Amino acid sequence: MSENAAQVGPLEATLLIGFLLGVAVVAVYAIRVGVPPMPSNRAARQAMLRLLPERIEGPIYDLGSAWGGLAFDLARQYPENPVIGIELSPIPYAVSRLRALLLRRPNLTFRRADFLKTDLSDAGALTCYLMIWAMRKLEPKLCAELKPGAVVVSHAFAFVEWAHEDQVIVPEAGSAWIYRYLMPTSS
Ligand SMILES: C[S@@+](CC[C@H](N)C(=O)[O-])C[C@H]1O[C@@H](n2cnc3c(N)ncnc32)[C@H](O)[C@@H]1O
Repeated sequence: MSENAAQVGPLEATLLIGFLLGVAVVAVYAIRVGVPPMPSNRAARQAMLRLLPERIEGPIYDLGSAWGGLAFDLARQYPENPVIGIELSPIPYAVSRLRALLLRRPNLTFRRADFLKTDLSDAGALTCYLMIWAMRKLEPKLCAELKPGAVVVSHAFAFVEWAHEDQVIVPEAGSAWIYRYLMPTSS
């Protein structure tokens, strides 16, 4: 080996192994749940916030909250409502918990859980940015569980059976559509 070759010390080696393990855990969970922890960009988050009603009765859930960005925006816009980010992937979840510790928001909590196994019947509103197969699993659960008047705002992916009541396109988010759904108030 040449005398100029970079020497890797134990600290650098440990950091590199830790980083690679972290990337591997994120990748394994992205494959397991079928959705990577890619956050909605700023323009998409703002469009989602604009599609939500001014007043919401009950908790607001971000289903698959990843690193926590959208949940923080929701907590800021609705200081009177509990905002709950639900995330299964441990590393994004840990980062969102750390952010919550640093940037205290009394109405914001994060749960490490599978939202498909979480009771969402008290939700006043829900947001999500998933994939089509995750939306297919979520749709029957929400239709069976949500209370009348609950609002769902989805970035990029629509439900198959449930007709949206409003939509906007966001050019700055790769021309993604944002869809709004309303749980009917009478049958
Ligand atoms: C594309 S990110 C969206 C992050 C955030 N909601 C936003 O819009 O910026 C989707 C997240 O959903 C999570 N996820 C997918 N299925 C899940 C499930 N069944 N339970 C909990 N989290 C899930 C993934 O791990 C991923 O971090």
